[in-house]
Amino acid sequence: MAQIVGFISQKGGVGKSTLARGLSREAAHGGLNVKLADLDTQQGTSVDWYRRRLDHGADPIFSVESFKSAAQAIKIADEFDLLLLDGPARASSATLEIARAATLVVQPSGASVDDLRPAILTFHELVKAGIPKRKLVFALCRIGTEAEEAEARSYIDQAGYVVLEGSLPERPSYRQASNLGLAVTETRYPQLNQRADKLMQSMADRLNG
Ligand SMILES: Nc1ncnc2c1ncn2[C@@H]1O[C@H](COP(=O)(O)OP(=O)(O)OP(=O)(O)O)[C@@H](O)[C@H]1O
Ligand SMILES: [Mg+2]
Repeated sequence: MAQIVGFISQKGGVGKSTLARGLSREAAHGGLNVKLADLDTQQGTSVDWYRRRLDHGADPIFSVESFKSAAQAIKIADEFDLLLLDGPARASSATLEIARAATLVVQPSGASVDDLRPAILTFHELVKAGIPKRKLVFALCRIGTEAEEAEARSYIDQAGYVVLEGSLPERPSYRQASNLGLAVTETRYPQLNQRADKLMQSMADRLNG
């Protein structure tokens, strides 16, 4: 049975798909048999991204597919080492379904209180619905400065949740990579790739630890 990582958030555009693709790329690069399940059938952003990846001839390739629900995706989990569920925004029932199925639930968030407060409430709701707190982790995305990151970490810590080590700074180069079907670890800038890789590695550490 595959390990399953779910990427969720109530807010849209926080980085779920970006992180799901980044982890897919790194896990596939490390030799794992990876499936990225795009659960946003309306947008299909990860499926589109993967088409660009194939057009660009990027390596490694892995498997990206659109699914109607987490339940549908889990049916094929046996065939893979790692199944990543790229969730839709603003979908409480889908979010709970993903959280139930996942070994690890990653919620990306920006550093502002406007972003963090609802994100923490989302985790509170999952805990209330019976999801073990140890499965739930934050990933800080679109970070401006170190000071901003430190404040966000302390805010999340006070709310009683774990924040993954590493973070994604806000950079146009990450978007440019995405435009070409590349992951956040595959930009033209080694420093940005390393920074993204640290965040992906800390997800892998949570899975293995
Ligand atoms: N660190 C970053 N720096 C710059 N742009 C970023 C960064 N992270 C994400 N983006 C861009 O922000 C947009 C939203 O990111 P993404 O699609 O990953 O969010 P999402 O949570 O999956 O959104 P949705 O809720 O619509 O599914 C994309 O255009 C993406 O390229
Ligand atoms: Mg998305």
